[in-house]
Amino acid sequence: MKLSPDIATLVPYKPGKPIAETKREYGVQHVIKLASNENPLGTSAKVKEALIKAVGQQHRYPDPAFFELVELASKKWKLSRSQVSVGNGSNEVIDILIRVYCEPGEAILTTDKAFLSYALCAQAARVTRVFSPLAPGYKTDLQAMAKILKTDPRAEKIKLVFIPNPNNPTGTHISDAEVCQFLEQFGNDPNRLIIFDEAYTEYVRTRDYRSALAYMEKYSSVVVIRTLSKAYGLAGFRVGLLFAQPEVIDYYNRVRNPFNVNDLAQVAAVAALQDDEFIARSVENNSRGLDYFYEELKKMQVPFVESQANFVMFDTLRDVSKVNEALLRRGVILRPILNYGFKTELRMSVGLPEENKAAILALKEVFTEIKPI
Ligand SMILES: Cc1ncc(COP(=O)(O)O)c(C=O)c1O
Repeated sequence: MKLSPDIATLVPYKPGKPIAETKREYGVQHVIKLASNENPLGTSAKVKEALIKAVGQQHRYPDPAFFELVELASKKWKLSRSQVSVGNGSNEVIDILIRVYCEPGEAILTTDKAFLSYALCAQAARVTRVFSPLAPGYKTDLQAMAKILKTDPRAEKIKLVFIPNPNNPTGTHISDAEVCQFLEQFGNDPNRLIIFDEAYTEYVRTRDYRSALAYMEKYSSVVVIRTLSKAYGLAGFRVGLLFAQPEVIDYYNRVRNPFNVNDLAQVAAVAALQDDEFIARSVENNSRGLDYFYEELKKMQVPFVESQANFVMFDTLRDVSKVNEALLRRGVILRPILNYGFKTELRMSVGLPEENKAAILALKEVFTEIKPI
């Protein structure tokens, strides 16, 4: 059967290698996975308690309107209920927004080193991908994006602009001043949405960052996506949040599957959003882990990019496939990012202190075994 070229050439998202697969393939007993930016503290005790109580109600369909979750999220982030919805992970939110707002042949704009899902979901919907280059220091360059929106012949077709802040896999952020300047120009465009993907916002340490939630009232085109997969420790449950104007939420809700977020996931999310102490501990562990990584990477004379997220990208200066293979043999799963065009770099998530230590030790061994190119 003849397929659309977009579908025929689609290369699926390559997630971090699963632990069980690594054990099977490499015959290792103990595996450390620092490849998917998950929360190394696990899932909070309060979430587990709530889940046990909810196990008996699973013969019922979940609440299609996520009443409790929307109520809680709207209060927490000082929005109205009509400005909040939920997805099966933020990945689904991205996918649905593209289907709602872009016809085949229309376009999204993002950077050529942004989280890959924007481009993949667009391709699956036969939507054109326009990419802007990064600025030096692997930074998302809003001026380059603005230039495309003003001068590129495809600009009129661009309906959605995806801005991950902080970005994955680089870990870099965009300052509040840069965001302000961009929104002054494009924040109230009736024909385009500016989508800030804030998957790592809880981890940000720099003082010049501000969530785009602060701009939702002033600028009608601003949309914010959050996830509960990272600091909230619910990656397996698949919960993403969408914050936008009521009209956007309305269309999103029309298109999504009515039961897109299962009951246990909703229960887990409600408990997680109330457990501030767990978030504080997660952020603290992350901050210490990042500092440890920086210190060790410096000692190893390995260039790295300072991160505002829960991972760090560094340059192995070596053939990354060989480095990765040698790490896997030692039971350490990090993340090659070749599919982003990074040929010698790796991305390493922050784990527990002992996991971080073991990963650094393995890297040191591998670096003596494999010579720089
Ligand atoms: C920037 C960014 N956005 C969104 C996601 C998707 O998260 P999820 O679908 O688990 O909510 C990720 C996951 O790694 C990410 O890095």
